Amino acid sequence: MASRYQSYTTIEQLPARVGDTVTLNGWVQDKTGKGKLTFIKLRDGSGMVQCVVFKPSVEERVADDAKSLTQESSVSITGTVRAEERAPGGVEIDVTDIKIWQIASEYPITPKEHGVEFLMEHRHLWLRSTRQHAIMRVRAAVIKAIRDFFDMHGFKLMDSPILTPNACEGTSTLFETEYFDLGKAYLTQSGQLYAEASAMALGRVYTFGPTFRAEKSKTRRHLTEFWMVEPEMAYFDLNDDMDLAEDFVEYIVQYCVQNCRKELETLGRDISKLEAVKRPFHRMSYTEAVEWLHANNVKLNKKQPDGTEIQIDFPWGEDFGAPQEEAIMTQFDKPCIIHRYPSEVKAFYMKRDPSDPRVVLAMDMLAPEGAGEIIGGSQREDDHDALQERIRHEGLSEEEFQWYLDLRKFGSVPHSGFGLGVERTVKWITGADHIREVIPFPRMIYRIVP
Ligand code: 4AD
Ligand code: MG
Repeated sequence: MASRYQSYTTIEQLPARVGDTVTLNGWVQDKTGKGKLTFIKLRDGSGMVQCVVFKPSVEERVADDAKSLTQESSVSITGTVRAEERAPGGVEIDVTDIKIWQIASEYPITPKEHGVEFLMEHRHLWLRSTRQHAIMRVRAAVIKAIRDFFDMHGFKLMDSPILTPNACEGTSTLFETEYFDLGKAYLTQSGQLYAEASAMALGRVYTFGPTFRAEKSKTRRHLTEFWMVEPEMAYFDLNDDMDLAEDFVEYIVQYCVQNCRKELETLGRDISKLEAVKRPFHRMSYTEAVEWLHANNVKLNKKQPDGTEIQIDFPWGEDFGAPQEEAIMTQFDKPCIIHRYPSEVKAFYMKRDPSDPRVVLAMDMLAPEGAGEIIGGSQREDDHDALQERIRHEGLSEEEFQWYLDLRKFGSVPHSGFGLGVERTVKWITGADHIREVIPFPRMIYRIVP
């Protein structure tokens, strides 16, 4: 017995249904008329198709219903699929019947240009527009590619908690809440510490969920709530970690090239730039990157105590900001991994480089075309005493990290992992110029509605 679920067709299936009579369920994106003809642009989430109502060949009621449709009215349209070379999907519908679910009130988002603030306030409706629709489909593909990649390679999904008793990525960007009689709890900044415990139980794992940063920065690449996927692998050193990150990112990008061509074209993305994202990527150490900045005369703006700014040579030991990362990436059309950062600018859990104790076995992957950092990762400190010393040095609570230190007492092994930001990746692949466009409902310092 055909279920309701199977009995209707989606717009993306139409090219295979030429000549058939089908029923589509959707919303009216636009309606125009000319003499005896009414043209309805119907959107159903899978695509858009033009439906043609020819008055002489339908019941009068159908012709009247077609005329009454407003933008975003919800309708089921029945008709015959006709091949039409000039149409975007190669087909049109010759309408035989219309069922109106609702005639929509005057829709606030019209085809004219709207300001971003207005669109953000109407995010719940803005998601229906062609561009947002294409971005969300790429986002879904990126998430599918992420899960497929790890599932295919024998990683086990291990969820990390979202309410946590302590910080993972520094104490300055924590969202805090009261937790019954137990004091304060924090929204997790990263599932990594728990992923490490999981990796000691299952070998290769990944954790995938929302993460939170009380970021005060109003940039095009910061959200306060974002999705991060974090693989963690026992018996992996930094090189293994970087190799995996390259395979992984190549897979995601090529998956989108193969499965989202229509969406990327809609977005006006230069697909050849994505096709070029193949291993091997570029790699350089932090120290080499600093030397490159010096050799290419890329200066750092430094504020003086009196408020004036001067330009100085980039000092070894300082963290890279977006300007340095962008400068470094101007020479590359593929991602570049920068490794071995000064320990002072990186998190407490990173292992020191045995051959240079000033640096840790960290790695960041920077994407080209101004996209910036998409991955942060490292080999973890696996020596109990060294880790304890780092926890003390950072002024973190040893008691709260007791369970984490335990992992270094009971069969400690070299292990590594990284975190990839889903929105940073989708922003890069889609070419969106602001991160707020690549998550359905963005959370930023100045926005929590809708
Ligand atoms: O570099 P981060 O802070 O690394 C970690 O959290 C590690 N614990 C990951 C690990 O080793 N398991 O964050 C990882 C990635 C960044 O490279 C970036 O893509 C993304 O998360 N990210 C953000 N995305 C959007 N908005 C923000 N505020 C972000 N902060 C980090
Ligand atoms: Mg980082």
